[in-house]
Amino acid sequence: MKKLRDILYEAERDKVAVGHFNFSDLPSLSAIAAAARTLNVPVMVGVSEGERAFVGVREAAALVRTIREEHSQPIFLNADHTHSLDKAMEAARAGFDEIIFDGSALPMEENIVQTARAVEAIKSIDPAILVEGEIGWIGASSEILDEPPEGTGVLTTPEQARQFVDATKVDVLAPAVGNMHGMLKEMIQGGAEKRLDIRRIAEIKAAAGIFMTLHGGSGTRDADFQAAIRAGMTIVHVNTELRLAWRRGIESALHDHPNEIAPYKILPQVVRSISEVVERRLRLFNFR
Ligand code: 13P
Repeated sequence: MKKLRDILYEAERDKVAVGHFNFSDLPSLSAIAAAARTLNVPVMVGVSEGERAFVGVREAAALVRTIREEHSQPIFLNADHTHSLDKAMEAARAGFDEIIFDGSALPMEENIVQTARAVEAIKSIDPAILVEGEIGWIGASSEILDEPPEGTGVLTTPEQARQFVDATKVDVLAPAVGNMHGMLKEMIQGGAEKRLDIRRIAEIKAAAGIFMTLHGGSGTRDADFQAAIRAGMTIVHVNTELRLAWRRGIESALHDHPNEIAPYKILPQVVRSISEVVERRLRLFNFR
């Protein structure tokens, strides 16, 4: 089985991106894995600190490892938005493939100090684990929002990217390029889309020279996704769209089966609902 680093090199070479989707229950994980198998493409799954507190750190690792072995499937596990060294090391010991140390809420100097420390600690547990760092504030939650979170909208500069990468030695960089976590109400109603600064993405990629991740993918214009991938984004994160599909799936399943109480008869509708979203996004990210 190829390592995540090899998968990212191939994606970068082919100017496609690896889709990254969050999960906090088994139907969601099954849906993501099934969609990637249908299209025969690699996929990343992520658990934030909140998501892994619910699923369990070692449980998440065991589930993903089992799917990978059972289906010989290139599926990789990421410790999304990790804020403390302890939690980063816990994920490293559990066998995660990637860890995002997220110091983006800190002043740049402090972010550099803490991220560099995390890189060293994680690599001392397993040098094959990829470590991602973040610069620029894009909000923090995959939720339905009334307005953009305070402080978002400021773009990362190429110089900041170069300085951060040189000082921390991260493998992957997550910059702020017009992206934002969560979806505004008007995005869900279909009247608005997130727009990305494609030129800035290309400039940051040239300055940083490492893999880059686009966070906050939900609600982004399709053409911007494709241009962002061509300009240098190799991983794309989507979460809110899946949470929405989860909720709509369960609501319609309960509506259709008002007297059903067996979870395994209700939840397939949730799996289908999430799979459809993941498949649509993976098609966009993987095929030009
Ligand atoms: P969205 O919820 O906006 O898709 O962002 C997801 C994300 O970036 C998780 O790391």
